Amino acid sequence: MIIRSWLFVPGDSDRKLEKARHNGADALILDLEDSVSDDRQEVAREMVRAYLEANPDRSRQQLWVRINPLDTELSLPDLAAVMPGAPDGICLPKVYSAAEVDTLDNYLSALEAREGLPLGSTRILCVATETAASLLTFHTYLEGGRDRLVGMTWGAEDLAAALGASDNRNPASGEYDDPYLMAKSLCLAAARAIEAQPVGVVYVDFHDLDGLEADCLRDRRAGFIGKIAIHPAQVEVINRAFTPSADEVAYAQRVVDVFEQNPGLGTVGLDGKMLDMPHLKQARNVLAMAEQIKGLG
Ligand code: COA
Ligand code: MG
Repeated sequence: MIIRSWLFVPGDSDRKLEKARHNGADALILDLEDSVSDDRQEVAREMVRAYLEANPDRSRQQLWVRINPLDTELSLPDLAAVMPGAPDGICLPKVYSAAEVDTLDNYLSALEAREGLPLGSTRILCVATETAASLLTFHTYLEGGRDRLVGMTWGAEDLAAALGASDNRNPASGEYDDPYLMAKSLCLAAARAIEAQPVGVVYVDFHDLDGLEADCLRDRRAGFIGKIAIHPAQVEVINRAFTPSADEVAYAQRVVDVFEQNPGLGTVGLDGKMLDMPHLKQARNVLAMAEQIKGLG
């Protein structure tokens, strides 16, 4: 299933949790990590568990939880607290390599058994680029299958700190500097290689909705599907940007049709342009995406 918009909600904020359930985000990520202060960890765990239990119907909006990194003593208590609420998935931050995903996979299997949940039902979205090591270990995702790992996203804020940078953007152009563009590209390639959904990075300036839209379209052109949101107002923009327009769907259908009408031809002309197999594949992707999005609220 495609998730266009993933809205982060601080796990210890009653007001934001309430607001988020009425928002059009395809998924919420109830946060136990960076948006929760150290002295509120336990409160947040209990609130998130109660919220999950109070909202068992996930047909319109999935409920995910971001836990603390596995190399902290907070992560296991996070998982133990929230699994009774059967989250749709866990967002795993600050990974070093695929090994952490495998460790989380094992923890989830044990906790699913404890809670009587179907084995393998809890999915994983990893934030794949928040440590220096993570940039050098993308190849580890290619070894072995990871059915739970359905999405990968990237981050430039923690990565900047990990790389010793004072900023992650060029002050003149506002564009990301080289290491972050590399992180973005590696995340995209790794996610596509393992058939996980590559999810676009958060757009931090939440008042700038035009900038967000441009960033979504850039992400979509590059191959990302969906984007992380941090503010409710970002969700509508994201949903729109990642929904193929009627024109796009109509064109994709014409591309598929022209190949079907010319069986045995690997390359055809349409509107004065040459089309070959990659165009057909892209057109099929657009139609498949439109079909999956129809099923969303
Ligand atoms: N989820 C749900 N509701 C949210 C929200 C979120 N992520 N962010 C803001 N809201 C609510 C606010 O509570 C407010 O509602 P209210 O008027 O009923 O209180 C309304 O939306 C408008 O919010 P606004 O005043 O524009 O923003 P803010 O100054 O209250 O909050 C942030 C700004 C960035 C602190 C807030 O958007 C936020 O907490 N984002 C998530 C941060 C996060 O999880 N980061 C970790 C991942 S990077
Ligand atoms: Mg962070």
